[in-house]
Amino acid sequence: MNVISQNIKVSLSICIIALGMGEAHAAGDIEKGEKVFKKCMTCHKIGEGAKNAIGPVLTGVVGRKAATVPDYSYGKSMRQARETGLVWSEESLDGWLTNPKKYLRKILDTRKAKSKMKFKLKKQADRDNVIAYLKTFSVEIKKDAMKKDGMQTEATPGLAKPAMVVAATDICVENQSGKTLLFVAEAKGGERVVKTLKAAENLCVPQKMIDAGGTVGVFLDEDAMEGCSRLAKAGQPERLVAYEPFDNCTWAQ
Ligand code: HEC
Repeated sequence: MNVISQNIKVSLSICIIALGMGEAHAAGDIEKGEKVFKKCMTCHKIGEGAKNAIGPVLTGVVGRKAATVPDYSYGKSMRQARETGLVWSEESLDGWLTNPKKYLRKILDTRKAKSKMKFKLKKQADRDNVIAYLKTFSVEIKKDAMKKDGMQTEATPGLAKPAMVVAATDICVENQSGKTLLFVAEAKGGERVVKTLKAAENLCVPQKMIDAGGTVGVFLDEDAMEGCSRLAKAGQPERLVAYEPFDNCTWAQ
């Protein structure tokens, strides 16, 4: 076990350097956030079976790329924002909810940007709380899509039967190697789970700060001197395809 803790310590410090110190946000209150969300419900649906309405479905929105809900007709500026690689994190959601139009103008660097969403959430506490509430809705990953694309999957909101259901805030690792191996998942901030996984099993550890990320690792067994480790993003499970020690493993993404 010592080797494992050492290995994780090393990767964790890399992790901290790599991810830096994101802008600090006060942790929101989920129950208060649910009340705030009533204002959003005029236009947005969330949770199991939710459909697009005036606005797109918000299930799994935290950690998702902007403007990617299927069959929703986004405005032009939102589609441009998607092309810039905008992902809905706590920070970007905070900016968006403060003033959607202003936010798009800022990130697209043009005074012409427009948003189909006119609604603004002026109070910081309301924004923090509603974001905390949004984070409680999980991202579902389509099993079919996973097979078809050779496991290069993207998380899709609220569709079909999921292979694994991952909270947008979880650090996860899935064993696709066909072998039984020892896995580790560690969230930034220290929480860690170590577990032996058979083929197709997975392991998750909750991550409180979505932008922080974590580490996952794999070893032959508890006595193994060397294994593989990898930085992981919350809500985006890492998938081991083949095991090879000395950090020569093959991962799906
Ligand atoms: C009056 C209707 C309306 C209200 C109220 C509203 N929205 Fe929206 N929302 C929209 C529309 C329309 C869009 C699509 C914007 C576009 O394409 O320009 C949108 C887009 C979004 C997106 C981007 C989604 C994606 O798939 O990229 C998020 C996130 C979002 N809204 C969150 C919220 C939250 C949280 C609230 C409540 C605090 C809220 N909205 C209230 C209409 C609304």
